[in-house]
Amino acid sequence: MFDPVEKLKEYIRFPSISADPSAKEGMRGAREHVAGLLKSIGFDVEIVPTKLHPIVLAHRGGDPKWPHVIIYGHYDVQPADPLNLWHSKPFEPEIRGDRIYGRGSADNKGPLMVHITAVGRLLERDPKLPLRITFMIEGEEETGSPSFLPFIEKYRDRLKADFVYLSDTGIQRPDQVVITCGLRGLMLFDLVVTTAKSDVHSGLHGGAFRNPIQALTEICASLHTPDGKVNIPGFYDDVLGVEPWERTELSKLGQSEEEYRKFLGVPAFHAPPGYSPFEALRFLPTLEFNGIGGGYQGEGTKTVIPSKAFAKISCRLVPNQNPKKIRELVYNAIRQRVPKDVTFELIDQHEGVPYVVVPPDRSNTPKDQSPVLARAFRAADKSIASVFGNPPLYLREGGSVPIIADIKRVLGLDSLLFGLFLPEDNLHAPNESFDLTVMQKGIQASEQILSTVARG
Ligand code: BES
Ligand code: MN
Repeated sequence: MFDPVEKLKEYIRFPSISADPSAKEGMRGAREHVAGLLKSIGFDVEIVPTKLHPIVLAHRGGDPKWPHVIIYGHYDVQPADPLNLWHSKPFEPEIRGDRIYGRGSADNKGPLMVHITAVGRLLERDPKLPLRITFMIEGEEETGSPSFLPFIEKYRDRLKADFVYLSDTGIQRPDQVVITCGLRGLMLFDLVVTTAKSDVHSGLHGGAFRNPIQALTEICASLHTPDGKVNIPGFYDDVLGVEPWERTELSKLGQSEEEYRKFLGVPAFHAPPGYSPFEALRFLPTLEFNGIGGGYQGEGTKTVIPSKAFAKISCRLVPNQNPKKIRELVYNAIRQRVPKDVTFELIDQHEGVPYVVVPPDRSNTPKDQSPVLARAFRAADKSIASVFGNPPLYLREGGSVPIIADIKRVLGLDSLLFGLFLPEDNLHAPNESFDLTVMQKGIQASEQILSTVARG
């Protein structure tokens, strides 16, 4: 069997930035690396073309009566900028202490390596394992998975399975695993405000008409109330309350607000009234400004009135909120608040990622849960407790994995989301890293989970 840390290093070397059209080679390298690993552990591997980045689909067949698990992962990563903030090069992996540094080390190359290694070891130890396994590894997760829905629709027959298994979510401490039982959805758009047909001299024309940056920032400022709530009529109407068991489970994480505050380096929290910061990020929707621009951004000064200003805005959505409906509410509020003397555009950036709820919902055990999935959850409880020292907690997550809702809707499958990355892994940020002890424990636990799913 290969050494997972060496293979992870090789994997990180491929700059597989799905958003960057010039990263085609890195995308191909990462894809072929994964395909090669899966071949080396006995899988039939196919590279499925899509409109943009192909998907790696790999099967280990067997008796149709055996349980079938689909393991999902993504080989693409976020862009590495700002490069000057990295202590080592993002695509030249470096091990410092117990961590491996590099873009994608945690999201999602390390966690995917955990499952490939676990499967490899398990099959080496137990070549007759009565389990069908399919890996489906995409290259567009970080850009919202546009090719994934057509893919699962087309391959529906080959993707009949008992459940989907993945690690693309977080944990709080190395000894406390979290199984994600809900993910936030997303709705993304740009707001562009235009006034004059060209940038103009601010002395010759300043004071005569409205500045687009002023108009834009006034609209943006109107979207929250001073106490931190989203200021859009109806925005919270469909939000479900927090179940008592969820608050109890969250409190078991034993997080300290002061430590979290220091970790972030913020002077204070600003969560809506009635919610701790920890509750807010898991249980409440948000409206965030992801980027804002317009006018002169260079050194020194420039006396100009720009013709345009823009903001990139996203809303994280929680269970029961519909992305389409929220888009309409937000757009309507903005339309009403834009001054009449500017032109504006609202540009959809993604059709919207719905929220996800996955079993086990402890308040209401689902009756239609597949017995294999039930066995997988019990196996996860047991294996995680024995390997990590504590049984997993079941919590909703603040982030989004766009394909989970589609998998449920199209394939009818629930997902077992085995969290593996830590807050200090710096996902999407400079100095991303993955904890190698979590990696080794993850491999052990995953091997046990899959073994129990197959053999009981
Ligand atoms: N692995 C993350 C999602 C995640 C992050 C889950 C943190 C739990 C905790 C995933 O790769 C991701 O970043 N997703 C994007 C989706 C977007 C690009 C459509 C996200 O959540 O912003
Ligand atoms: Mn990810």
